[in-house]
Amino acid sequence: MTVRTLNGGVIAAYRDRLSIPPDVEAIHINEGNTPLVHLPAVSDRKRNIDVYAKCEGLNPTGSFKDRGMTVALSIASHNGSKAVICASTGNTSASAAAYAARAGIQAFVVIPAGKISVGKLAQAMMHGAKVVQIGGNFDDAMDIVKRMPEEAEVTLVNSVNPFRLQGQKTAAFEVVDQLGCAPDYHFLPVGNAGNISAYWMGYVEYGDAGIVGAKPRMVGCQAARAAPFLVGAPIEEPETIATAIRIGNPQSWNLANTAVIESNGWFRSSDDEKILTAQKLLAERCGVFCEPASAVSIAGFCDEIEKGNIQDNSVVVCTLTGHGLKDPEIAISQSPEPITIPKGGEGLRDLILSSLD
Ligand code: F0G
Repeated sequence: MTVRTLNGGVIAAYRDRLSIPPDVEAIHINEGNTPLVHLPAVSDRKRNIDVYAKCEGLNPTGSFKDRGMTVALSIASHNGSKAVICASTGNTSASAAAYAARAGIQAFVVIPAGKISVGKLAQAMMHGAKVVQIGGNFDDAMDIVKRMPEEAEVTLVNSVNPFRLQGQKTAAFEVVDQLGCAPDYHFLPVGNAGNISAYWMGYVEYGDAGIVGAKPRMVGCQAARAAPFLVGAPIEEPETIATAIRIGNPQSWNLANTAVIESNGWFRSSDDEKILTAQKLLAERCGVFCEPASAVSIAGFCDEIEKGNIQDNSVVVCTLTGHGLKDPEIAISQSPEPITIPKGGEGLRDLILSSLD
């Protein structure tokens, strides 16, 4: 039987550009092909600076991790692996759980207790992962899971697994395919630092293939109290409301540094207040709902344009790494309470009229 799909996932779309054995069967959930949405409320018309959001929250499990997980799980399955493991601030665990379910492989996820958002936890549980929590943070969890492949028959699917980056680099291919060129600047959140490394790999490969001429300046955006790249060294106790990027010891340190240096880009950071303001701006003025960690890219752009660090006539892409529904608690805590009226509807008319005054 032929299964018809309009979008067969990132392996089908870009197989010839992925370093994977040719006979690997794709374990996929139609990830990728996410929208690149113009953001008029963030763009600057006078200076002709156009800003687009690469909406990675529209992947099957609601984050960019799916691009990497389809490749990691396809390879794990191809190699006969019976179990996969990851440390996670939430999204990796959700994605690993879903793709493992699809592959018929058991997922083990190690998370910092109480520090991952409820939506992500629900996903990992629902997809049948064994959820293991520790009293420490993501970096502690990472140290634990890295040891496991030596101690048990389990495949590590964090982004230190090179197949993850193979999948994630397809986001850069898509940006170019959608825009028709590379952007001038690419802002994205940085936590464990795999994604910025993967994007840069994608842009470089499209450059080497002659598909793009100029490549973007990569701007790695961190949360102020979880910003090891700004400090220049790992930090012990990272803290931020953007729990997805609450990471002090990024595993892809060298690759991410290289991406920023080679692209003539830079790292920068925003405090939690600016992150939440950017999240709200996107939701209220652009109709786009992303999770706090994703908004750090918009917060970063808004700050850099204000400082005059973005050239006129530029095209900017900000990656929104995860969907806002991942973290409803943060969203609700930032918003006014619902207004209660009697069940007959009394008072609604006056409310509407007074709001429109
Ligand atoms: N944005 C979101 C929503 C994330 O979940 C992550 C990482 C990042 C940005 C940073 O990407 O690690 O490649 O630099 N989340 C991981 C996780 C760590 O476990 O879900 P990175």
